[in-house]
Amino acid sequence: MKTSAFMFARQTARSDTPFSPCGRIAVVASAIHYRKLAKTEVRRNDRVLEIGCSSGLATAVLARTGATVAAVDCAQEQVDLAISRCGKQPNLTIARLDGRNADLLVGIMPEPTVIFIDVGGNALLDNVAYMIRLCLRVFSPRLMVVRSIEYAGVTAMIDSLETLEHRPIRRISRRSRSAFLLRCLIEQSHSDKADNRVFTIYRLHALGTAPARRRVAQLAADPHPRVRRVARMCLDDWGAVDRPLEPDDGGT
Ligand SMILES: C[S@@+](CC[C@H](N)C(=O)[O-])C[C@H]1O[C@@H](n2cnc3c(N)ncnc32)[C@H](O)[C@@H]1O
Repeated sequence: MKTSAFMFARQTARSDTPFSPCGRIAVVASAIHYRKLAKTEVRRNDRVLEIGCSSGLATAVLARTGATVAAVDCAQEQVDLAISRCGKQPNLTIARLDGRNADLLVGIMPEPTVIFIDVGGNALLDNVAYMIRLCLRVFSPRLMVVRSIEYAGVTAMIDSLETLEHRPIRRISRRSRSAFLLRCLIEQSHSDKADNRVFTIYRLHALGTAPARRRVAQLAADPHPRVRRVARMCLDDWGAVDRPLEPDDGGT
């Protein structure tokens, strides 16, 4: 019964394909299955972006397909391990980079045809969903493979799915990218996770626009000490520490 419900959800999802900016999304729970898809689903002429490469076990598999691969991880020690495992492959670039930073992702792999995302099997679904949405708005891959135990669990429970007549997530034009990224950052700056809030402060600081400054000023009163410290550091840098708060503009 469970299998047929799952098959139904899969078939319905497939019938949506013409409307989707991404050909297919595969959600897996296990690292073994994820690496297996790296071997079976990637073609030699693909351009692959891998987010969360860790020590490079899946990266090595992706590079062996002959595709052009850019693998990133936010942890320097993991990047070093990945480089020592497979850094000599000529078709592979490995870099320390935070996958939440779309500008840097575009810089390292402008038009990936395949995206692999594994920021930890136990990562919060909110974080995984944020990254999927970001990638779908910025890129048009033919395939996205996502590893998330929570997402796979929720997906397996789906037994009916409404077929959409419009694209659920539209790719944004290059021109409107910065406004979109600012909205994303302001949205993510309300995350429950202090780490996400700290990340957005650094990015908002780099943008330095009026709405970015206003949001950082609000985060200087965050309940978490690290968030407050980083926000105040940025305000100091702007020389705006004593500036009164202006009303929120709704994140635009
Ligand atoms: C479970 S490991 C990935 C394992 C890998 N897929 C494999 O097959 O060996 C998850 C990795 O995601 C990285 N990570 C977590 N959040 C990230 C982010 N926002 N950007 C880039 N990497 C991230 C972590 O540093 C960690 O190395």
